Amino acid sequence: MRQAILLKPGKLEIRQVPDLLSENLKPEEVLIRIMRIGVCGSDIHVYHGQHPATPYPVVQGHEYSAIVEAVGSHVKNIKTGMKVTARPQLVCGACGPCLRGQYNACQNLKVQGFQAPGVAQDLFVVTEDRVVILDNSMSFEQGAMVEPAAVGAHSTRRASNLKGKNVIVSGAGTIGNLVAQFAKTRGAKTVIITDVSEFRLEKARECNIENTINVSKESFEDGVGRILGSEGFQTGFEAAGVQDSLDVLIKNIEKGGEVIILGVYALNPTINMFYLGEHELNVIGSMMYKHEDYEEAANLIATRKILSQSLISRHFKFEEYNDAYKYINNKGDRIMKVMIDVND
Ligand SMILES: NC(=O)c1ccc[n+]([C@@H]2O[C@H](COP(=O)([O-])OP(=O)(O)OC[C@H]3O[C@@H](n4cnc5c(N)ncnc54)[C@H](O)[C@@H]3O)[C@@H](O)[C@H]2O)c1
Ligand SMILES: [Zn+2]
Ligand SMILES: [Zn+2]
Repeated sequence: MRQAILLKPGKLEIRQVPDLLSENLKPEEVLIRIMRIGVCGSDIHVYHGQHPATPYPVVQGHEYSAIVEAVGSHVKNIKTGMKVTARPQLVCGACGPCLRGQYNACQNLKVQGFQAPGVAQDLFVVTEDRVVILDNSMSFEQGAMVEPAAVGAHSTRRASNLKGKNVIVSGAGTIGNLVAQFAKTRGAKTVIITDVSEFRLEKARECNIENTINVSKESFEDGVGRILGSEGFQTGFEAAGVQDSLDVLIKNIEKGGEVIILGVYALNPTINMFYLGEHELNVIGSMMYKHEDYEEAANLIATRKILSQSLISRHFKFEEYNDAYKYINNKGDRIMKVMIDVND
């Protein structure tokens, strides 16, 4: 089978490796044929050698859809021929967070595509507990969008009840867009999204997030005033991963509010502790997702309550993996998600 291996930053090679065989499956394992892989910001950091926790060589790929080729003897709910996706998290099951059900923050977490081999190859083996069945009506590219959507599902669960709240999502990349859509499905009163890229704000409006602020053209404060009038916002999601974005949320959120941190910061930001203390703010981390987030994301994409189609900018063939990275590099914030078509 083919495998795309990143030997060192910038050097990705497609090579032939032995097929994974169904006769070697352990009882709880599932053999899958990879169909689509989404490329995300973290993959790009790894490609350029800018990811703090990824050793080389590495096989990338953690957002994907697949078809089941074979199942192990103890597999109960997964059948050959099903459309599926799976969580890329390898957890220990024995540490404090795992024992209290917070396995997404496992002390010994290994994410496939980063600290463990990912799915950039024809066939892959996963354990049944991490597999999520995709509705037959879903396309393979929608299936590969379940992973980023699950980040939206989880982060909006990390916040306390969003019903009736005014919510601001700072950053309208794939993640911010999906967070904002989830905030709407969870009953927020008004959801605002901000960015410095008009293209990305236009994509947000295409996904029915009507309230947008381009903070390169209008100040955050003016934009919030224009949309909310005299009302404040009670929940902020930081999904840009930059200092300015964190600052405006912390400074402007209503006293007693919550800021959920999704961003991964290239430069460690400072946080204004005056506001944190005096305004009695809650700052909450959000790490990937749990299984129920994956299931919810798959369901809401299938029922079109979460829209993912217009976030997909372009497809590349498996053999064009390097071209996909070049394209992403050249296009910057004028694109969103790029898909690798592994099999047809
Ligand atoms: N916590 C998690 O589980 C998790 C999972 C996936 C990604 N992430 C992180 O979430 C962040 C968003 O991911 P993404 O894939 O959408 O990244 P992205 O880079 O595509 O999107 C970030 C967006 O922020 C915008 N931006 C830049 N400066 C801004 C500012 N001052 N105010 C508002 N917007 C600004 C950019 O124009 C861009 O559109 C990244 O830091 C990523 O590493 C976290
Ligand atoms: Zn990703
Ligand atoms: Zn653990």
